[in-house]
Amino acid sequence: MIEFSNVSKRYTTASQYHAVNDVTFSVAKGELLVLFGESGSGKTTTLKMINRLLDPTSGQIKIENQDIASLDKVTLRRKIGYVIQGVGLFPHMTIAENISIIPDLMGWSKEKTEKKVLELFELIGFKDRALLRRKPSELSGGQQQRVGIARALASGSKILLMDEPFGALDPLTKANISEEFLKIQKELSLTVIMVTHDIMDGLLFADKIAVMREGKLESFGTPREMINQTGSAYVSELLDKPFAQIKKITKIIDNL
Ligand SMILES: Nc1ncnc2c1ncn2[C@@H]1O[C@H](COP(=O)(O)OP(=O)(O)OP(=O)(O)O)[C@@H](O)[C@H]1O
Ligand SMILES: [Mg+2]
Repeated sequence: MIEFSNVSKRYTTASQYHAVNDVTFSVAKGELLVLFGESGSGKTTTLKMINRLLDPTSGQIKIENQDIASLDKVTLRRKIGYVIQGVGLFPHMTIAENISIIPDLMGWSKEKTEKKVLELFELIGFKDRALLRRKPSELSGGQQQRVGIARALASGSKILLMDEPFGALDPLTKANISEEFLKIQKELSLTVIMVTHDIMDGLLFADKIAVMREGKLESFGTPREMINQTGSAYVSELLDKPFAQIKKITKIIDNL
């Protein structure tokens, strides 16, 4: 579905610094890829090249075997849902209007759009419909983030790019929303690339995990392969941190 071949991105020609450096990987239809890595490792840059908010400096990206460099940007973006890092709702629009942006652009009937908006609004855990008439600034940060997820799903896209979609959510809300999301993802066979800072997300949700480090792909594989692999000291260190915490908690519980 999505195929990166030796993709690099430099933001300025003056510098040799590569935000993304010779990255090759692919994601099959219906797969969920978790993109993991430290701050500044190139995750957002990678996502933005998929819907051509950025173009690679070199290399090729294909979607369904088509080189996206030859596709019209606007058409491409309508086909791809995007949950922006740090929410990115339009402040002057109501919640309902924000969710229905793409359906409106695609010329859906008012009825069909309203039905979809309500369905997604409930899916992201809201009950009070009055919220639909509020502006984003009148919602909490986590609520805004959930609206961002609904908006991306409303596009009906088969591909979703999600940049830390659950970053602002408490663990309980996150667990509920992510569970609902995973159900839909499997049901509709959505191809998803999701950036997260929580390695546990990767291990729980992902079909594949890509670890980025300083623009390079440090490791790529299934969660099982990642846990079993001994090739990268960096990945072992990444995994050791949360497991050490779990061990600590288990010890506390054992001593209760
Ligand atoms: N518009 C830009 N111009 C110049 N450099 C940029 C630009 N955007 C990002 N960078 C640089 O490219 C590198 C990768 O940035 P990117 O946003 O992809 O990181 P990230 O992995 O998404 O980090 P985070 O987890 O903090 O969101 C960083 O060193 C960043 O400073
Ligand atoms: Mg980022």
